[in-house]
Amino acid sequence: MHTTSPPSLESLYQLTDWELDQRIQAARNRLGEDLVILCHHYQREEVYKFADLTGDSLKLSRLASQRSQAKTIVFCGVHFMAEVADILSAPDQITLLPDLAAGCSMADMADLPQVVAAWKELGRVLPVETQVTPITYVNSTAELKAFCGQHQGTVCTSSNAGKILEWAFSQRPKVLFFPDQHLGRNSAKRMGIPLEEIVLYQPDLPLGGLTEAAIRKARVILWNGYCSVHQMFQPAHVELFRKRIPDVRIVVHPECSMEVCDLADDLGSTEQIQQVVRSAPPGSRFAIGTELNLVNRLKHEMPDRDIHFLCPTICMCSTMFRIDTQHLCWTLENLVQGQVVNRITVPKREAVLAKTALERMLQVC
Ligand code: 13P
Ligand code: SF4
Repeated sequence: MHTTSPPSLESLYQLTDWELDQRIQAARNRLGEDLVILCHHYQREEVYKFADLTGDSLKLSRLASQRSQAKTIVFCGVHFMAEVADILSAPDQITLLPDLAAGCSMADMADLPQVVAAWKELGRVLPVETQVTPITYVNSTAELKAFCGQHQGTVCTSSNAGKILEWAFSQRPKVLFFPDQHLGRNSAKRMGIPLEEIVLYQPDLPLGGLTEAAIRKARVILWNGYCSVHQMFQPAHVELFRKRIPDVRIVVHPECSMEVCDLADDLGSTEQIQQVVRSAPPGSRFAIGTELNLVNRLKHEMPDRDIHFLCPTICMCSTMFRIDTQHLCWTLENLVQGQVVNRITVPKREAVLAKTALERMLQVC
């Protein structure tokens, strides 16, 4: 360690990459078993290389719930992921997010007052408590997970949305799915629900812009949210690759639009995308529709596969990118000095209800 008092974040921007790496490593060594660094696959390489454990949202949720011996979880990902870690980790563990501005624009597209208003509005058309299961994509605030916990609903991730929908239909005939319309539509369509029974609820419009008849007929009511990164992938990009590389395998994340997913060979979470590429024989050719950092890492790790980024422009998650080595170093060096910075604490009542919803998910898959 170079300092005896915690560094200012600004001062770390004066260091070289090599110096930052040395200091992060020194802080990790000092913290030893007390620290675990969890990293989402979209993290930039400079940060990802310091991960103790990596994963997609489901894997990271499970890891956080497995009561590691570490006193502190440093979560290199976005805010909702750190909230899940706080909810599922042991009561004596704490969770830190190196930059509190690392949010998720999709998660911001549905808030509790809006969802409560929608629930009430739907309740004027249907007996919601007996007819509708609320499902929130894990990319959402803890208070929406708590809402689902309270109303016999659950959470899903991009790797288990289909199974969670099946579970939901075994409970009640309809689902309210928020905030990602694409994951909801792609998953419902793949389980054979016709598009006429999938409707889009627009929270800014009276009755979500729907008629009472449409709500009564619907089996799946989707919230009008989306990921600004994944919506950049277009059907034309798939068609272009199919022309350029006839034996290409198109693999996309289910946050992409239905038009893109319908043209793809495989869709899956970030962990599942990696598995598809890893399990393919050398020489296989891929065009991948998900965040750029993950695709670049796969290219780098597997030079014997021909891996392309599906979009001709850069699709990066700017909020994931906020976690840089300076913030990681600052968080760790503060910890070494006994200072806790950027702790994520979900309020108790909310955490209990959100945990109910998350545990329902973990029991189903
Ligand atoms: P995964 O659960 O597939 O890692 O997805 C998280 C995410 O935010 C994708 O945009
Ligand atoms: Fe949120 Fe999209 Fe970033 Fe994933 S890629 S964290 S959904 S903004």
